[in-house]
Amino acid sequence: MQKENYYKDVREHLKALEERGKLVRVKQRINKDTELMPLVRWQFRGLEESQRKAFFFQNVIDVKGKSYSIPVTVGTLAASTEIYSIGLKCTPEEIHERWTRAQSHPISPVQVERGPVQEVIWKGDDLLNGHGLDMLPVPISTPGFDNGPYLTSANWVTKDPDTGIFNIGNYRSQIKAPNRNGGLFLGQHMGEHWRRCKARGIPLEAAIVIGVVPAVAYAATSKLPYDFDEYRLAGGLAGEPIEVVRCQTVDLHVPATAEIVIEGKISTEWIEPRRFSLHYGDILFGSDVEANRPVDHRRIPDVDIFIDGNANLRVAADVTRAGVQGAPNVCRSRLSHLDHAKGLTAAADLVMNGDI
Ligand SMILES: Cc1cc2nc3c(=O)[nH]c(=O)nc-3n(C[C@H](O)[C@H](O)[C@H](O)COP(=O)(O)O)c2cc1C
Repeated sequence: MQKENYYKDVREHLKALEERGKLVRVKQRINKDTELMPLVRWQFRGLEESQRKAFFFQNVIDVKGKSYSIPVTVGTLAASTEIYSIGLKCTPEEIHERWTRAQSHPISPVQVERGPVQEVIWKGDDLLNGHGLDMLPVPISTPGFDNGPYLTSANWVTKDPDTGIFNIGNYRSQIKAPNRNGGLFLGQHMGEHWRRCKARGIPLEAAIVIGVVPAVAYAATSKLPYDFDEYRLAGGLAGEPIEVVRCQTVDLHVPATAEIVIEGKISTEWIEPRRFSLHYGDILFGSDVEANRPVDHRRIPDVDIFIDGNANLRVAADVTRAGVQGAPNVCRSRLSHLDHAKGLTAAADLVMNGDI
């Protein structure tokens, strides 16, 4: 039997969700700062899991009435177990096996010359003239708690300056200005890259990728060993290599069919102390790091912002406990670790209560 190809890009993935009756297209105008996320959260407060949907908002405005040409999707990655399994192109029962196979049979990415993600490139003064981060309809995830718009499905790509091994981590990204954003990742693998760059006296190059195939997004939320490149895990999940293209201004590779890439360099000389909101709506007084970032994207970006984590993690935390979005893969990969590394084969499942 011929092997079925994985999704080429997010557009194919959305089509699959729609064909399975799992995507709601919202044509009405929606305010990204006050209405969008609360509307999506409602479905996690009363509906059966099987009734939950992913959302595609195509007429987004902000609190000042500004409208955006770029749509917003929410819940496409893991609003329910079934939606999660669509992202992996398997049945719900096969999810665990997919993860186990991907970790034991990772597939390295392949580099291609060019990809649709670089159809349009904005740099320098463009960023301050309407083509910077203010072009993106980034919602307020938890109105009343978040201190600004945050990308919550931001896949940060960096590499270890000593070994060259890549890391992809999903860390929220606070939009601070058209050419500046911040992240809180110092306790994560990317933080180790930052410290190693600091030791060498160089800035850390980073690219934030938005609108990736689910395999990349799932890999980015996974806690793997430090030197296990998430591109290889994503390839293992997809069953085929992820195509990557070289960035324009930094020495990094990003998925060639992604919707948007934000490139930049992060100073290792200073950290800006600021309030940073976490994904449950808590506000942490912490340190964050920011950078100047060029923006590349597809000619007409179809889908650019994913907010899955916020809506879903809330559920993971206080409703289902077993969780969705990051939780199943984190649980599953940790369970596999217990099974294989510690010999705890009697473990049937592992449940996390929002500790991601
Ligand atoms: C929606 C969502 C948002 C997240 N935001 C952050 C964040 O802002 N900072 C952070 O340290 N971890 C965050 N995480 C957790 C990391 O994605 C997770 O720990 C992952 O394993 C990090 O990748 P790494 O192990 O390669 O560092 C988030 C997870 C999800 C699902």
